[in-house]
Amino acid sequence: MMHFLEINQLSYDEVMSLIKRALDLKATQVFPSYSCRMANLFYENSTRTRVSFQIAAEHIGMRVVNFDLDRSSEQKGEVVEDTIHTLSAMGVSVFVIRHPQNGFPQAIAGAFHKNVHVINAGDGTHAHPTQALLDMMTIYEHKSHLSELKIAIVGDLLHSRVANSLQNMCALLGVAELRLIAPKVFQPKIVQFGHVTSSLQEGLQDADVVIGLRIQRERLSLDACMEIDAYRRDYALTKHSLSWAKPDVMLMHPGPINRGVEIDSDLADGPQSFIFEQVKNGVFARMAVLERLILDR
Ligand code: NCD
Repeated sequence: MMHFLEINQLSYDEVMSLIKRALDLKATQVFPSYSCRMANLFYENSTRTRVSFQIAAEHIGMRVVNFDLDRSSEQKGEVVEDTIHTLSAMGVSVFVIRHPQNGFPQAIAGAFHKNVHVINAGDGTHAHPTQALLDMMTIYEHKSHLSELKIAIVGDLLHSRVANSLQNMCALLGVAELRLIAPKVFQPKIVQFGHVTSSLQEGLQDADVVIGLRIQRERLSLDACMEIDAYRRDYALTKHSLSWAKPDVMLMHPGPINRGVEIDSDLADGPQSFIFEQVKNGVFARMAVLERLILDR
C-alpha cells in the first residue's frame, strides 16, 4: 500500500487486517516505533481527524509537522505541489491531506512517486476512508456478525464523504442491509450500496447500528437549504425515533455533532452512544494505516 485514498482501492483482506491490527493495538497497548516524519496538511477545519492523526503518529514514534497554512508560503502564492516537494526535501514522507475539492489528495498522490505517501483525510463531498475504517472497527468490535447487520445512516447524505466511504465499506465487508435516510434535498445522487428512503421510521426499524450525520452547512447551496425546524421534526435522532431500532442499537456519529439539531444531547451522552468510543478508536485505526504505509515502503 503506497497511499491510503479510498476504501474502493482496498480488498476485503486489507480492510480486515487493518481493523484487526487496530483492535490489537488497542487491546495490547504495545506500540512499535518507526522513525519517519508525517505532515498534517489541512485545507479545511478539523478537530478530531487532525489531532487523531497527530496522536496516532506520535504513539508509533513518528515525528509530526502540523503545517500552519495561514502562516505558510502558500499565502505568498506557492502551490501545494511545491509545499510537498519542500517538506519532502526536509524528510517528511507521509502527507495527511484534507481538502474541500473532491479528488485533491488523489491528484497529489498521482503527481508524486518517490518517498511521498498520501493519506486522504477527507476530500470535499467525496471520501473519508479513515473515518469509515474507524467506524467499521467500532461496529466490528461490538457486533462482529457483519453479514447479519442492518445499518442506518441518517442526515445530509448528499454532502457526506463519510457516508460515501461507509457505503463502500459496507459493500466490501458484506453488511446485510444499509439504509440511507434523508429528506429529498439531502438524498445522494449516486448510490454505491444501500437503499434510500425518506422515512425515518422505515429506515430505523430494527436497525442494529444508527449513524447520524451533521448538516454540512458549509457545502449547502441555496437550493439545498432546508428549514432546521422541519429537519428536526422529521429526521432528528431522539429517544422516540431511536426506539424504532433494536433495543441494543449502537448509536454513532462521526462528529462534530450539533446537539439539539440532528441528535439530542441525552442520546449523544447516553448508554447507547459510541460517539466517544469512535473518537478513541480513530487513534488506533490511524496507527494501523500509518504502520501499513511505512511497512510497505
Ligand atoms: C466529518 C468530516 O469532516 O467529513 N468529520 C470528521 O472527520 N470526524 C463529518 C463532518 O464534518 O460533519
